[in-house]
Amino acid sequence: MKVTIIGGGGLVGSSTAFALQCGGVVSSICLVDANADKAQGEALDLLHGASLVADQRIYAGDMSDVSTSNIVVITAGLRRKPDESRLDLINRNVDLFTGILGQMKSAGLKETTYVIVVSNPVDVLTYLAVKQLGLTWQRVIGLGTVLDTTRFRSNLAKKLQAPPTQVNALILGEHGDSMVPIWSSATINGLPIDQWPGFDASTAKEVFDATKGAGAQVIKQKGGAGFAVGLSIREVVHAIALDSRRVLPVSSLVNGPYGVRDVCLSVPTEVGCGGVRKQIELALTQKERLAIYNSARVLRETIGQVEMRLAAGPTKTAATVITAAQKPADRAIPRSAWASARK
Ligand SMILES: NC(=O)c1ccc[n+]([C@@H]2O[C@H](COP(=O)([O-])OP(=O)(O)OC[C@H]3O[C@@H](n4cnc5c(N)ncnc54)[C@H](O)[C@@H]3O)[C@@H](O)[C@H]2O)c1
Repeated sequence: MKVTIIGGGGLVGSSTAFALQCGGVVSSICLVDANADKAQGEALDLLHGASLVADQRIYAGDMSDVSTSNIVVITAGLRRKPDESRLDLINRNVDLFTGILGQMKSAGLKETTYVIVVSNPVDVLTYLAVKQLGLTWQRVIGLGTVLDTTRFRSNLAKKLQAPPTQVNALILGEHGDSMVPIWSSATINGLPIDQWPGFDASTAKEVFDATKGAGAQVIKQKGGAGFAVGLSIREVVHAIALDSRRVLPVSSLVNGPYGVRDVCLSVPTEVGCGGVRKQIELALTQKERLAIYNSARVLRETIGQVEMRLAAGPTKTAATVITAAQKPADRAIPRSAWASARK
């Protein structure tokens, strides 16, 4: 199983490569980056540890490696600035991302290849990849709320003094400001979390707020997420490679479940051979269901505006650069912002 990481010279890409190396499951790890030197340096460093870990082939490559890859992970992108929402990144990342999709197709992407999208805003970019790559939608998987979910579980464990691997709690919806904590099914090794000593409404709020703000905090303190996101990506890669059919909150094209249509967002998803094998619809509380619906609404609006802009062709006018200050509180990008691009 060959995994190529586009953006492999960056923090997320190189952390993913290290997580995959430590996992020892995939046979080849190829790092591709616009900064070829950086990709070569990361590959060299990883290779130096190979004799202590696993018999894998690790190297820096180029876009032509896409044609021989089983899984392509896309982590290339521009980082979120402190206090910048993931959706604010959209103007800076869509053109970069669609350029990479075009290069992948030109390089001879096979119809049997799986693509894992990590770059932000991940749900929007996953949707673009589904529409533009020509693969079946099941093979295009966004990291979605896998990282948010592991942060949530780890934060709960710390707060409740419980073992992290025994905490089961999900974040669904958007990987972003409208993410949804699913308290109704949260347990600690099967015990309802709301009966755990020390758990109450204020603890729940505190832990969820810390989870939602975790990305911004890590960016502020160390420049960006690395270790935890690398491990999260490894979960998805291994689920496909081992056909383990793990239920993960990845982002994929949803058409029906939870009343959501034509949007990529995270719902509980069985991941294995073939990619998305099943999207699982749970009996949630009404509040949770409405919150997922709200995520879908926010994302649908953004996707609509991105599609309009792409249909009009790339533009570099100042009017297309939206700042947080210009945006309404619900984080939708105002239609007028795209107007000049459509002329
Ligand atoms: N989905 C998630 O849970 C999640 C979590 C953390 C970060 N991210 C996202 O991952 C992306 C990368 O973050 P990072 O911290 O690794 O940034 P980074 O700046 O460290 O790395 C990005 C890399 O992409 C490379 N790159 C840029 N354009 C390229 C191109 N056209 N082809 C190949 N490589 C190219 C850069 O040279 C750089 O090495 C960002 O969009 C970030 O928001 C997503």
